[in-house]
Amino acid sequence: MRSLSKGAERLRGNAAFDVLARAKDLEKKGKKILHFEIGEPDFDTPRHISDAAVEALHQGKTHYVNSYGIPELRKAICDEVEKTRGFRPDMDQVLVTPGANPIIFFAASCLVEQSQNIALQDPGFLTYYSVLQYTGIKGNLVTLKEENEFRLDPEDLNQVIDDNTRLIVVNSPSNPTGGVMTKAEIERVAEIAEEKDLYLLSDEIYSKMTYDRPFHTPSIRDECKERTIILDGFSKAYAMTGWRLGYAVGPKKVIEKMGMLLQATVSCTPDFLQYGAIAALEGSQYVDKMMAEFTERRNVLISGLNSIPSLSCVNPQGAFYAFPNITKTGMNSKEFADFALDELGIALLPGTAFGPGGEGYVRLSYATGIDKIKEAIERLKAGLE
Ligand SMILES: Cc1ncc(COP(=O)(O)O)c(C=O)c1O
Repeated sequence: MRSLSKGAERLRGNAAFDVLARAKDLEKKGKKILHFEIGEPDFDTPRHISDAAVEALHQGKTHYVNSYGIPELRKAICDEVEKTRGFRPDMDQVLVTPGANPIIFFAASCLVEQSQNIALQDPGFLTYYSVLQYTGIKGNLVTLKEENEFRLDPEDLNQVIDDNTRLIVVNSPSNPTGGVMTKAEIERVAEIAEEKDLYLLSDEIYSKMTYDRPFHTPSIRDECKERTIILDGFSKAYAMTGWRLGYAVGPKKVIEKMGMLLQATVSCTPDFLQYGAIAALEGSQYVDKMMAEFTERRNVLISGLNSIPSLSCVNPQGAFYAFPNITKTGMNSKEFADFALDELGIALLPGTAFGPGGEGYVRLSYATGIDKIKEAIERLKAGLE
């Protein structure tokens, strides 16, 4: 039998989709499953956004377009960055992408050699690890600590950087922990990247989703002209996961090459969808409503988890993930996730799906109704006592 490439052999699937498939199987067998595994808002995309895309579709915006994004959307993104980050990038610093996910792959491919490494948080977003697996690039992992509310400690980051490090990835608010870094911490990360002359990918997909603390970006230090690449998108803040729309803002020469890679793989981001993205950026009052709902859910879930003697959970400051410590149950992460699904009908993810630092934890995505959250707490209480 002919073999696959080494990169393909190294690839592993996304744990969230595996758990979802198992949960669906159980549902087919008649079991009532509570879903906490997938990281997507359960709200509908706001109507004005869908209307804008449908109108564009009817107007015939159905052809190939500029691989970097339509000028109207790139301009709207420049406006958005100016409003939310405090500086205005040039249009040629902006790349519109089909989902934010590919930006991670594009950045690693355009900036890092296989013999080099990327410094990143552990636990961290699944795609970071998939990209490392596929490319064979080494990850220098910075363990996030519960006692630090899972905020990445810049001095721990500094420790893992060596002569072969080329790129730092920072993600605040963070998946899977909901940790949100302080202004001083974010500034220190930007300073380290500058001192060591490294690229810095700032994954800001949850930038609009914070609770008690504001979001900060390292990008103001160089205004994305030297080393910083912002990753952001529409999936989370506007409940548009299935649209596949994201964007990168970075140094012109990096964006130019990332755009060529996009062109080589998917040609361009669909034209009519980009009109939906423009509408999203124009009407952000919707995000506040969604965050009010998420705040209530977070409060119910976290106080519920902390009322169970064998669990404890840090209060997440952003995104929509809870990352409880399960060590007192005597189970490891995988055993707990299997127990939750098979015995209690709760689909959640083992912390180890997000890196070795996730051992002792599980992730619950609280993008689900309050009634389901309450029921999950009852099931956990009964099952663990
Ligand atoms: C930290 C992080 N970055 C990037 C993404 C990718 O988002 P998109 O759905 O736009 O590809 C996600 C999605 O789960 C995420 O959690």
